[in-house]
Amino acid sequence: MFEELIEAWDGERVVIRYDAPSGAWMFICMHSTRLGPAGGGTRMRVYDSPQDGLSDAMRLSKAMTSKLALVGMPFGGGKAVLAVREIPLGDARRELLLRYADTVASLRGGFVTAPDVNTTELDMDVVAERAPGFVFCRSSANGGSGSSAPATALGVFHGIRATVRRALGREVAGVTVLVQGAGGVGGRLVELLAGAGANVLVSDIDADRARDAAAKANGSVVPAELALETECDVYAPCAFGGTLNEETIPRLRCRVVAGAANNQLATPADAERLAAREIFYAPDFVINAGGVFHGIGTELLGWDDDRLGAEIEAIGGTLLEIYDRAARDGTSNDVAALRLADERLRSPLALTR
Ligand code: NAI
Repeated sequence: MFEELIEAWDGERVVIRYDAPSGAWMFICMHSTRLGPAGGGTRMRVYDSPQDGLSDAMRLSKAMTSKLALVGMPFGGGKAVLAVREIPLGDARRELLLRYADTVASLRGGFVTAPDVNTTELDMDVVAERAPGFVFCRSSANGGSGSSAPATALGVFHGIRATVRRALGREVAGVTVLVQGAGGVGGRLVELLAGAGANVLVSDIDADRARDAAAKANGSVVPAELALETECDVYAPCAFGGTLNEETIPRLRCRVVAGAANNQLATPADAERLAAREIFYAPDFVINAGGVFHGIGTELLGWDDDRLGAEIEAIGGTLLEIYDRAARDGTSNDVAALRLADERLRSPLALTR
């Protein structure tokens, strides 16, 4: 049932386990180990079908290869998906995570992980019980670096600043930014933007969350179903991927797309669709790298707060380099970013960290 997906994938290895006690499917995709162990978060989600879960893990792990190569980290790209029947709580969740951890441990360090959608640092504490040494971002009480969301938000903020300067020729103050998803990343991003004088619009399917985030930022709430067609300068997707596609791009009323969500483009052609509408796109796997810096930088590379802050701020400079390349080579920003990542992937000895 998974043959077609696996045959069409360009990654190295897929580990599939059916978890009979819960009815969940576990997929660990190791897209590339060229630069080091395959690294990527563990996503827990209810999918329409197991195939959708595998497909998500494959796409996300490929993006991790580009992200980790581009930021010069000694890891390849990976991702795990726990495709559950319903999001488990309490003992059922713990038992599932322990069985998953056994699978991670069986890979002997070929795959290392961290939190992702619907998993937290507390879940990573559980995984680390059975897969010690292969887990980033455990809780600080357990010796980990904790949630990466604030670092991701800070990186996105610096990225928005650089992108707005380049695309709109101005600072963030007075610019209208619509943040879609006011969770760990989006909630913090809203505060940072408001602190810099931006006009913030907040949209979340959780109405209370949207209202609270907007109140903190002196901003306004936009109903979730209207987010894409609301007029703004910057649309910041911080909820889920795939919001930029053939059907939505014609409806956008923004000038810049710059946000945290992974795999914002449904297909590579959507980068061209955005460019054709003169909407300036900040490649997602570049602007959302702050979380990687937080986990790997502090836990493995010994970075202190100053170094971490400097690396996160430098995301703005990396984006500007990509925009220069795109202009020089006549490509979309996405293609320029992928090419830069590919260059780094091909010359592992040039890794700078
Ligand atoms: P989160 O789960 O804390 O927040 C997501 C928010 O989006 C929630 O408030 C949820 O209610 C909202 N949401 C869900 N569907 C929505 C819809 N249709 N419209 C509006 N809002 C909706 O997740 P987190 O950690 O804030 O991550 C956000 C995005 O950034 C995810 O796509 C994640 O993959 C990506 N990302 C996160 C990183 C991190 O360090 N946390 C690192 C890199 C990427």
